[in-house]
Amino acid sequence: MARIVKRTHTGPYKLEIGGEEKFLCRCGLSKNQPFCDGSHKLARSEDAGKLYWYDDAGQPHEVADAFSGIRTF
Ligand code: FES
Repeated sequence: MARIVKRTHTGPYKLEIGGEEKFLCRCGLSKNQPFCDGSHKLARSEDAGKLYWYDDAGQPHEVADAFSGIRTF
């Protein structure tokens, strides 16, 4: 089973656990979920209003936004 989830955040969520800073991934690109691994920097070159998917090499691919109304986080 699989699903498509649209992510619009381009940076992590910072929190403190036991006096230690942790960064949770909000962009969906981290290979160390749920933690940020810096992969959100790939999203900096995205154009607003466009929709992308990323391959295993981290390369973005633009797609037609055929998913209007897709659930967004
Ligand atoms: S917020 Fe996703 S990798 Fe940093």
